[in-house]
Amino acid sequence: MATHKLLLLPGDGIGPEVSTELLKVVAFMGEAGVAQFEIEKGLVGGVAYDTHGQSISEADMTLAKEADAVMFGAVGGPKWDAVPYDARPEAGLLRLRKDLDLFANLRPAICYPALADASSLKREIVEDLDIMILRELTGGVYFGEPKQIIDLGNGQKRGIDTQIYDTFEIERIGRVAFELARKRRNKVTSSEKRNVMKSGVLWNEVITALHKREYPDVTLEHQLADSLGMQLVRWPKQFDVIVTDNLFGDMLSDVAAMLTGSLGMLPSASLGEVNAKTGKRKALYEPVHGSAPDIAGKGVANPIAMIGSFGMALRYSFGLADAADMIEKAISSVLDQGLRTPDIKGAATSTVSTVEMGDAIVAALRKGA
Ligand code: NAD
Ligand code: IPM
Ligand code: MN
Repeated sequence: MATHKLLLLPGDGIGPEVSTELLKVVAFMGEAGVAQFEIEKGLVGGVAYDTHGQSISEADMTLAKEADAVMFGAVGGPKWDAVPYDARPEAGLLRLRKDLDLFANLRPAICYPALADASSLKREIVEDLDIMILRELTGGVYFGEPKQIIDLGNGQKRGIDTQIYDTFEIERIGRVAFELARKRRNKVTSSEKRNVMKSGVLWNEVITALHKREYPDVTLEHQLADSLGMQLVRWPKQFDVIVTDNLFGDMLSDVAAMLTGSLGMLPSASLGEVNAKTGKRKALYEPVHGSAPDIAGKGVANPIAMIGSFGMALRYSFGLADAADMIEKAISSVLDQGLRTPDIKGAATSTVSTVEMGDAIVAALRKGA
């Protein structure tokens, strides 16, 4: 049985709560003989700031670079509102993404049949939804320079962020989109705002040329990002793979989360380029949701996004697609049994805790779902 090295960074708020449930599923995979996981733990976010004065320490960055995959909970919270900008909890996550060059962020939005009524949209709009939002994760306005606030000296200040995309960044995320589509329903929707932004004009040109050159068998369409936001809530089933930049991807994936019933349902994978020599790639897996300060410590957070993120690790880092399918089946089965954390309560009459949901998923895994 292969042994894989995981670095677990639970972070803040509900991060540690959902991480505890994740560990039960990791342990199950060892017991079931699927694979053995060696787990190291580190600090990220506010809890790292409290301990080291920075949102991730150099030692934990080294562990992240050496791990086969990083499992990340969530960071942030009102406790750290006054922390200097560079040391704020979110900076730790952004550094991990940038320094590990995790440019491809896969955010699948799948609506389990049992949850079609938990969405704020009508059942027929979301039932059986299965789309993939592919977000560029290491470029654009998140990292472009200059990024600063300057004092204009006349009582006015100026806040500056810079949106930058180079050809190679658009090409490599485009390739991931087309490759994903070939294994799904063979359609890519590329999204930018070329009607306003030069980076959008280039994005559109590069994706169009790449498609023509290397992926003519895949259907490609372009949608302006504002219109795509509208289409996502009007008729989301028209999409297969949506590829877009860092900021639009951030917003559109939160919108897509509500199609599935709750932010607590959405897993994600952040992947680097495959190393030609080792065949391996750097990777970090995290729920799309944040630290949820409003419910932290209450034991009611939904652990499904975190557990689903481990499923993505099995699929994309360890080639264990069958085990990943097992996790999805187990999640589906507990939802079919009617188990609901409060965020996906819908019309249900009772709810379960974070721990009960985690235990039920492990029980379903034991039973072979
Ligand atoms: P959030 O995702 O933390 O919460 C938004 C809403 O969704 C809240 O009402 C919350 O209770 C609910 N929610 C989120 N996850 C849930 C779960 N697993 N189960 C049940 N309900 C859940 O977003 P926010 O409130 O805008 O941000 C809070 C903090 O988290 C901020 O500091 C933000 O920067 C940070 N954040 C971190 C990440 C991350 O670590 N990847 C992602 C988003 C936001
Ligand atoms: C996400 C989050 C992060 C982002 C924050 C916490 C930096 O919202 O992963 O979606 O904006 O990318
Ligand atoms: Mn976000």
